Amino acid sequence: MLYFFIFICYNLFGDSMLTMKDVIQDGHPTLRKRAKEVKWPLSEKNLNKLRDMMAFIENSQNDEMAEKYNLRPGVGLAAPQINKSLKMFCMKTLDEDFEIMHQYAVVNPKIISFSEAKTYLPGGEGCLSVDEETTGIVLRSKKIRANAYFVDLETGKGVYKEMKLSGYPGIVFQHEYDHLLGILFIDKIEPNMPKASPIQFKLPETKEEENL
Ligand code: NI
Repeated sequence: MLYFFIFICYNLFGDSMLTMKDVIQDGHPTLRKRAKEVKWPLSEKNLNKLRDMMAFIENSQNDEMAEKYNLRPGVGLAAPQINKSLKMFCMKTLDEDFEIMHQYAVVNPKIISFSEAKTYLPGGEGCLSVDEETTGIVLRSKKIRANAYFVDLETGKGVYKEMKLSGYPGIVFQHEYDHLLGILFIDKIEPNMPKASPIQFKLPETKEEENL
């Protein structure tokens, strides 16, 4: 009886690890909806969703876990990608110099300024919700300013503040933000090579496999 009880609890509460089967793919209507504002303070349910999303990103960046669970490596995941039409996403990545970690759990973001100057990932973008190979680049602003709740996933507390991002973390933020608007990077692929300077990674080959 006790074992049965533990089994039920485990299935109800314990087994929340996200895998690729939870990540919906291009063609699913949720990816095309504008996500809804998240109620603040965060409900326990939404906090746990965010925790699961961050855990997915971390697992996907861990070679052993990624292989065991067949996870495509990712640096960002937005709630609509797990079929929750809510304005929240997680990202975890180093900047292009591999110096500063940008790990954020973001709720109700609003990008309040986009720089005129543009940049792009030289190898194009990738997305956990887009399976097919794509070619072509996506223009993003070099710098953005955004307001959002930035959530501490341990305590569930968050502060509403302004964040300035540039370079690679800025691109990731813009890609995830687009998911909340129902936009995929494939919508924005440039037909011609623009006159903008690409992001320069210190170790260019290491970023090729990551999805935003
Ligand atoms: Ni994506």
